[in-house]
Amino acid sequence: MSFIELKIQVNKTQAEALDELLMEFGSLAVTLEDAEDQPILEPGPGETPLWQQIVLTALFDSDIDREATLAAIQADEAWPAGAHARFQAVPDQDWVRAWMDRFQPMPFGTKLWVCPSWRPIPAEAKVPLLLDPGLAFGTGTHSTTRLCLEWLDSADLSGKHVLDFGCGSGILAIAAGKLGAAKLTALDNDPQALIATRENAERNGIAADQIDIQLPPLAEGFHCDVILANILAEPLRQLAPLFATVLKPGGALVLSGLLAEQADELLARYQPWFDSLAVSQHEDWIRIDGKRNFTDVT
Ligand SMILES: C[S@@+](CC[C@H](N)C(=O)[O-])C[C@H]1O[C@@H](n2cnc3c(N)ncnc32)[C@H](O)[C@@H]1O
Repeated sequence: MSFIELKIQVNKTQAEALDELLMEFGSLAVTLEDAEDQPILEPGPGETPLWQQIVLTALFDSDIDREATLAAIQADEAWPAGAHARFQAVPDQDWVRAWMDRFQPMPFGTKLWVCPSWRPIPAEAKVPLLLDPGLAFGTGTHSTTRLCLEWLDSADLSGKHVLDFGCGSGILAIAAGKLGAAKLTALDNDPQALIATRENAERNGIAADQIDIQLPPLAEGFHCDVILANILAEPLRQLAPLFATVLKPGGALVLSGLLAEQADELLARYQPWFDSLAVSQHEDWIRIDGKRNFTDVT
């Protein structure tokens, strides 16, 4: 099958109705992209936030009657008044192949590699983690995940209980397990992430009794040796007293999901309960790591 596409720039309020209209008239897929440079850092569970200005691209089978389809779409009230668009050819390619080619095995530090299932595991991958892009965040391609994986690769985790707070695909908990952690707790407020984590853990040979996969809250009296939390600045700000309560004295804290300009505020927030706080950066994103001190949470 070959394809044609229709591209149009719309605003946030027009996008949803237009998306439905194009699907109604036979579009095989509609993709929305930021028309400007407005980052959306992380939607809440079930949310589909949109940018203010959107480029909407609708893919159609090239055999459709282009003129009739375009006339019908443009006559509908969901079509933005005065907007012009025309069908353009999409160069032929093997779509599945093109998508798969983008995901290659990736190293993180000296031992850990994240490998998609359709590629051979490189000989130098001492600790391979098998993971395919799926329904939940976390493949290692994002800087925030990378910064956590690099920390894990260099840590001594043997015998440790590791909490992955905001586990997404489970990538950090599973990496910790493969790197020697004894016990894993993977928590997320999105049920879809828990399904993905369960599947990925099984696929990587993490025993069911080695990993607890759960929604919040943590059980009363929960304690651990390491916390990894790749979330966002505001939840991390709110979670500081909880992390100080559940992390054992001397335990390691790793925060990610933060932009460089948010470092100072987060450092000040965690400083009462954590020592040796250090900042590492990859592109625009930072990681903060540190050690739980002996100060009580009051
Ligand atoms: C950026 S993803 C990180 C996924 C993975 N840990 C990684 O490093 O790639 C953040 C995850 O945290 C979850 N999350 C965000 N806020 C949360 C909260 N307050 N409690 C629990 N999970 C949360 C989201 O559902 C999402 O799956």
